[in-house]
Amino acid sequence: EKGEYRHFMQKEIHEQVRALTDTLAGRVDFEEGKIRIPQLNLTTEKAKQINKIIITACGTAAHAGMVGKTYLERIARVPVEVEIASEFRYRDPIVDENTVVLAISQSGETADTLAAMELGRMRGAILWSIVNAIGSQAMRLADGYISMQTGPEIGVASTKAFTAPLVDLYMLAIVLGDMRGYLSDAERRKLVNDLRLVPSLVGECLNREDAVFEVSKALKDVQNSMYLGRGINMPIAYEGALKLKEISYIHAEGYPAGEMKHGPIALVDKEMLVLAIAPKDPWYDKMISQIEQAKARGGKVAVIATDGDTRAAEIADYVFWVPDAPWYLTPIVTVIPLQIFAYHIATLRGLDVDQPRNLAKSVTVE
Ligand code: M6R
Repeated sequence: EKGEYRHFMQKEIHEQVRALTDTLAGRVDFEEGKIRIPQLNLTTEKAKQINKIIITACGTAAHAGMVGKTYLERIARVPVEVEIASEFRYRDPIVDENTVVLAISQSGETADTLAAMELGRMRGAILWSIVNAIGSQAMRLADGYISMQTGPEIGVASTKAFTAPLVDLYMLAIVLGDMRGYLSDAERRKLVNDLRLVPSLVGECLNREDAVFEVSKALKDVQNSMYLGRGINMPIAYEGALKLKEISYIHAEGYPAGEMKHGPIALVDKEMLVLAIAPKDPWYDKMISQIEQAKARGGKVAVIATDGDTRAAEIADYVFWVPDAPWYLTPIVTVIPLQIFAYHIATLRGLDVDQPRNLAKSVTVE
């Protein structure tokens, strides 16, 4: 079933163009500049009453939720909290009947995420899910859902089930922003129209696998790494670090770049790989100054940079080039080289990327 690929993870990374094309199909009306997700069971009246969205999930799914927070706040002007499900379920959260508890789960069977949904239900919240496995508990428990169109994900390291919910959350934000009256016709049309770019942007990143492989060869023996991002790309630092640690067993930490001087920069020396996510987005200038600081302390610096960005290239020891994209969509682009990088580092180290030690594909116990 792996076809031409060596591992499911590699196959699933490459399936992202198809998965994202299917994510848009049937929901995006490019003519009208509208998004339709009937499975949400949402009325305009209800949309206007929503006072808060609590996104709850674990691991990679939680990282997708963190990007979604920016979409939902900026596009729909709804307050959003992102809660790790294993924490949320044991808190005494402030939830009422106008609060949405939105679970994100590939398997739809993660014990903590389901318990977080149950807690939301008990407190009278509106329950939504973004879920891949059809007919799973997370789909059945919800009042409304968005079904990821990725097909089954076999590799333990989640890849296509990360980028699909990013697009789902972006679409959800447009639906809510529209219903709540926060989007002008022109703004909505622009946001919807930009979705046309998604499959080709991801395809363009995948075409650059060989260049990522070359950097992977140069860096395969690193022992410590720090992934830095800001704003909408801050969760991509978490996600990139998680990908590397779970399949290559290299120590990797993700940090909001602005936190560096509050402690972690003490770790930077010539043995430390600093991987900075710095596409052309509204946080770009801040990222550049933080990359300069890491470089000044002797770190090995790799940067994810937008094509043609000579400023980033001059500072960096290694560059992962990504195509220019509207800033809202940059996380969907910047995560791809990080998935490919983790994959190649792990295989170069002779590890079984589809079955990493100590991990299961779905965590159905606490
Ligand atoms: O099935 P779920 O999306 O609920 O799973 C959540 C996490 O266990 C999962 O994303 C995990 O972090 C992945 N192995 C990361 O690659």
